[in-house]
Amino acid sequence: MRKTVVITGAGRGSGRRLVELYLDAGDQVVAGVRDPAAVRELQHGSGDGDLEVCALDVRDGGAVQRLADALGGRRVDLLINNAGVMGGDRQSLDDMDYDAWRDALEVNTLAPFRVTTALLPNLAQAPQPKIITLTSQMGSLSRNSPGAFAYRSSKAAANKVMQVLALELKARGMIVCPMHPGWVRTDMGGPNATISVEDSARGLVEVIERLGMAESGRFWTWDGAEHPW
Ligand SMILES: NC(=O)c1ccc[n+]([C@@H]2O[C@H](COP(=O)([O-])OP(=O)(O)OC[C@H]3O[C@@H](n4cnc5c(N)ncnc54)[C@H](OP(=O)(O)O)[C@@H]3O)[C@@H](O)[C@H]2O)c1
Repeated sequence: MRKTVVITGAGRGSGRRLVELYLDAGDQVVAGVRDPAAVRELQHGSGDGDLEVCALDVRDGGAVQRLADALGGRRVDLLINNAGVMGGDRQSLDDMDYDAWRDALEVNTLAPFRVTTALLPNLAQAPQPKIITLTSQMGSLSRNSPGAFAYRSSKAAANKVMQVLALELKARGMIVCPMHPGWVRTDMGGPNATISVEDSARGLVEVIERLGMAESGRFWTWDGAEHPW
């Protein structure tokens, strides 16, 4: 069955490659981007699927509502909350950028909830709706590593939001999972990261495909391992 897939932060990095992979699979992809020019090339060079581009800053409630309006009553099979930020360069014990921390909470924690709830009527029409949020192992409470207060706290909170959403949406048959994409060589991950965008995105697509109700509310990695909270 041809799926309708909505992906946020789709102009570069993992989001962009995920768009291309779903287009190659022949799916209908709705790509949320802050700058629609960012996906111009992709519109011309992709596979068999159909691409729809939607201007979307995930911090903007009005923009999220416009995305929902643009979808109208259409079915959405898969939502990938991919948009994310690090929370600025200054997030150490003696030098904290509080505005950037607030922004990280907006983008990484509040927005996935906002986008998910706005699209619930569309997701409700799918036979097996899936809501995936790219969080991070850096938000795992079971890992003891220092620094990155803003990023870690925003992703830890996003994990919790997704766990609670999974519980509340279980009765509606919706599968909700936070996922760690690996340490990926994107603008965010940097050149020393351990895996390519290609390997991460392909892994995510495969794992997402296999997720069922039994996997909902659990934290998964790009290669199919379960990550401790
Ligand atoms: N790379 C890693 O190693 C790694 C590890 C763990 C988790 N993750 C997570 O994986 C996801 C994708 O990261 P990435 O590595 O692809 O990062 P990236 O290369 O920095 O790309 C981030 C994407 O998020 C978008 N974005 C940022 N703020 C936004 C906003 N307010 N509204 C809409 N879009 C926004 C960016 O759009 P613009 O182009 O408009 O800025 C960009 O498309 C993120 O959630 C990240 O936290 C990444």
